[in-house]
Amino acid sequence: MTSTDPFAALAAQRTSVRGYTRQPVPDDLLHDLLVSARLAPSGANLQPGTFVQVRGAVRQSLSQAMTDAYRANLAEAEDYSYFPDPMPGHLRRRQVAAARALYDSLGIAREDRAGRDLQFERNFRFFDAPVALVVTIEGGMGAGCYMDLGMALYGLLLAAQSRGLSSCAIGALASYPDLVRTHLGLTPDTHIVCGVALGYADAAAPVNQTRTHRIDLENYFKVVG
Ligand SMILES: Cc1cc2nc3c(=O)[nH]c(=O)nc-3n(C[C@H](O)[C@H](O)[C@H](O)COP(=O)(O)O)c2cc1C
Repeated sequence: MTSTDPFAALAAQRTSVRGYTRQPVPDDLLHDLLVSARLAPSGANLQPGTFVQVRGAVRQSLSQAMTDAYRANLAEAEDYSYFPDPMPGHLRRRQVAAARALYDSLGIAREDRAGRDLQFERNFRFFDAPVALVVTIEGGMGAGCYMDLGMALYGLLLAAQSRGLSSCAIGALASYPDLVRTHLGLTPDTHIVCGVALGYADAAAPVNQTRTHRIDLENYFKVVG
């Protein structure tokens, strides 16, 4: 990176971190991050979505319930569709590359189903991060509102990065929306978008060596006229 732009540096430093130290995150620091996330622009200023911090016994029982459901092969209808189905080949290749980067960092072979499952289950424990958030949105919102919430989510991740924290968004939590609603006492109209793990990165955790690549700028930015 050649830029001296502090924002460019911040954006380049952020990676998804899946191993954390036990160092707690003070409540006032977490509040600061949400104050920044809340500044995200949104269509008609609807400010869709809510960030729910999950702590203590509720967090433990939620993590256990999702892990049990995963091991039992239980399937729940998701509240929204994240990925195209079927996945077009060019996107599938990116998905496979990201998965390979993750599992290679851990030395888990492609055919090691049990090893991959164990890593996948760590999603349900928010990677044992000191802060666990569940991101929700009211039912019936349009795709644009999900876009707005995504901007707030990225704002949160970058705000965390700028304060020395690391993060990982966790779409896997959206696999069990009914379990999440039940454990958090949320209404049926509250849709589960994803989770977020926040905390201080464990520099010694091999999983944090995971690095993903981005597509060429020529395929990302087009000029017409
Ligand atoms: C909304 C969202 C959901 C994600 N869900 C998961 C997840 O369930 N498990 C996981 O390990 N990583 C998850 N990720 C992290 C992505 O895999 C990661 O952002 C991508 O591979 C790019 O890598 P980077 O964040 O390190 O730049 C998610 C990211 C986003 C933005």
